[in-house]
Amino acid sequence: MTTQLTTNDLDAFWMPFTANRQFKKAPRLFAGAEGMHYITPDGRRVLDGTAGLWCSNAGHCRPKIADAIAQQAKTLDFAPTFQMGHVKAFEAASKLIQIAPKDFEHVFFTNSGSESVDTALKIAIAYHRARGNGTKVRLIGRERGYHGVNFGGISVGGILNNRRAFGTHMAGIDHLRHTHDPAKNAFSRGEPEHGADLADDLERLVALHGADTIAAVIVEPVACSTGVLVPPKGYLKRLEGICRKHDILLICDEVITGFGRLGTAFGSEFFGVSPDMITTAKGITNGAIPMGAVFVKGAVHDAFMTGPEWMIELFHGYTYSAHPMACAAAIATLEVYQEEGLLTRAAEIAPYWEERLHALKGLPHVIDIRNIGLIGAIELASIPDAPSTRAYARFVAAFEKNVLIRVTGDIIALSPPLIITRAQIDELFDTLANVLKETP
Ligand SMILES: Cc1ncc(COP(=O)(O)O)c(C=O)c1O
Repeated sequence: MTTQLTTNDLDAFWMPFTANRQFKKAPRLFAGAEGMHYITPDGRRVLDGTAGLWCSNAGHCRPKIADAIAQQAKTLDFAPTFQMGHVKAFEAASKLIQIAPKDFEHVFFTNSGSESVDTALKIAIAYHRARGNGTKVRLIGRERGYHGVNFGGISVGGILNNRRAFGTHMAGIDHLRHTHDPAKNAFSRGEPEHGADLADDLERLVALHGADTIAAVIVEPVACSTGVLVPPKGYLKRLEGICRKHDILLICDEVITGFGRLGTAFGSEFFGVSPDMITTAKGITNGAIPMGAVFVKGAVHDAFMTGPEWMIELFHGYTYSAHPMACAAAIATLEVYQEEGLLTRAAEIAPYWEERLHALKGLPHVIDIRNIGLIGAIELASIPDAPSTRAYARFVAAFEKNVLIRVTGDIIALSPPLIITRAQIDELFDTLANVLKETP
């Protein structure tokens, strides 16, 4: 196995969401992984505080999942799912529906979170058309929302850099305000007290655009990628109520909160809301192979099942929708989650996680700490004129001390695999405390 790279080897790969020139001067590489750890080319074991990219919920290189993928590769490597099918696709969908919230009856497979989002947005518009409401085309997202990188997703998302870099987005989009209010809610444990009324922004947008033009609202139950913005108490339920009132579909983007991150199978269950669609990816295969899925309620799906039976009901799909290896991985992943109780484990360990996380209060530059389920964030005061450099320095320092964290701007985000032990939580936060104290 080649584990050592020379400088020249680094050049060809244009890395995503990376400061390429900076990285290639001092690369951070992994060559292996096992359970809670990554292994560097020189053999260091790095504690994974981020489940890879919020995806390896059962930890790394789980034999059951790896074996299922290998076996599938030898049995049926690829099969089309346009006007054809294969057994594992139906089995994976049925098993996923068994753990889905009430009234979810169907799964549309994609290959990523971004594709799940754009698929759900298209289904929302097509759903209203199928019911004769052709004017309902407007999509509502939220400031500081992250819904992947495709044009639909960046349009409903609310991230300045996407606007700076890619200019005009899809037309017919509007946004709710984000719910982050550190002045009132700093150092909240779990759901913050203040801000449920921000859901009423949707009433304002209905008053502005007319409910007859709005197809769907898409929100992450917890906006993770833009810094772990936990919804205020009652906010999501209030938003759901307004959607119902105006026949607007509610899409919960659960690419991160799906598959146990909050201690329930799906985040919407944690918050007691019942969306019309749930977008997922990442944990669906434990990150072991690309896959995404849109969970769709029976009522939404059934609106399409009209007209002549020879007709394609949804003119949409990917070559690799329900790829056999991804389906095999998803089935094995669900088994691992169920055998080890991982879909609810975060609920057990969350109080300890919360205690250890909030004990970092008072360390240099820490201006907020927030948490929910097995997610945590530490926000640092930015250095004037050099935003994000303070957190980045701590990210590098933590990696050097064998702990992987994630940073977005000057926010440190944590989301370890759901198998983390108390001793590993201690190791994570002890290291982080040292890093926060010692890094200049
Ligand atoms: C809520 C949410 N939606 C969509 C995506 C995009 O997923 P992917 O990177 O698999 O396209 C992400 C990725 O972090 C996400 O957090």
